[in-house]
Amino acid sequence: MGTIITPPETKDFPQMMEIERFSFNMPWTESEFVRALFTRNVSCVLLKSTSLFRQDSVFGYVFYCTERKRLDVWNLAVRSDRRRRGHGTRLIAYLKERAERGIRKTLEAVISEQNLIGHLFFRAGGFRATEVLRDHYGEDHDAYRMVWDSMPFYRNRLFGGRRATNFLDSTGGAATGEGVG
Ligand SMILES: CC(C)(COP(=O)(O)OP(=O)(O)OC[C@H]1O[C@@H](n2cnc3c(N)ncnc32)[C@H](O)[C@@H]1OP(=O)(O)O)[C@@H](O)C(=O)NCCC(=O)NCCS
Repeated sequence: MGTIITPPETKDFPQMMEIERFSFNMPWTESEFVRALFTRNVSCVLLKSTSLFRQDSVFGYVFYCTERKRLDVWNLAVRSDRRRRGHGTRLIAYLKERAERGIRKTLEAVISEQNLIGHLFFRAGGFRATEVLRDHYGEDHDAYRMVWDSMPFYRNRLFGGRRATNFLDSTGGAATGEGVG
């Protein structure tokens, strides 16, 4: 079945909301979706089926923010019955391609310490956990900053940068739990 990456249309909203509700403990509300879409520098793309006959044509989406030197992944989710088929990887590949073509060479995501699947997903995509953000989601609810760098070798050579510590490696992994952040 064919898929395309495309900006959202109003008619896609109900499907996006359904995916969101199934994906996170603290899902974005409809007004948060709308606010994100109208926020300067924030963009959203969907992964959709090209079939005209599917009612459930939205397979996943990613919201990202274009910062001065990087792209921040704000929200990424794939329909629960469409997971482990490479759709999330395809959305991240879209962002990597944008980063590699432009002046922003890194991608960043902040992800709850409880979202083990999210960690595994970003690690599989070449992201490294570079920082622990204490109490980021409230008291005793930490998050990890995860970074993908399109040219780490050159950056380290040029700027003498330390290799980013992978906190998830050094702490032996994260707690289990489904998606917040
Ligand atoms: C995280 C998420 C987007 C992954 O989407 P997906 O389409 O299933 O991901 P992919 O099929 O591209 O998986 C790529 C790799 O990530 C890892 N991975 C993804 N899901 C995994 C799981 N449930 N268990 C273990 N590893 C997993 C695997 O290495 C996988 O490669 P493989 O299938 O060849 O083993 C999806 O699970 C989701 O929507 N989760 C809820 C929302 C969320 O947590 N978003 C991330 C934070 S914003």
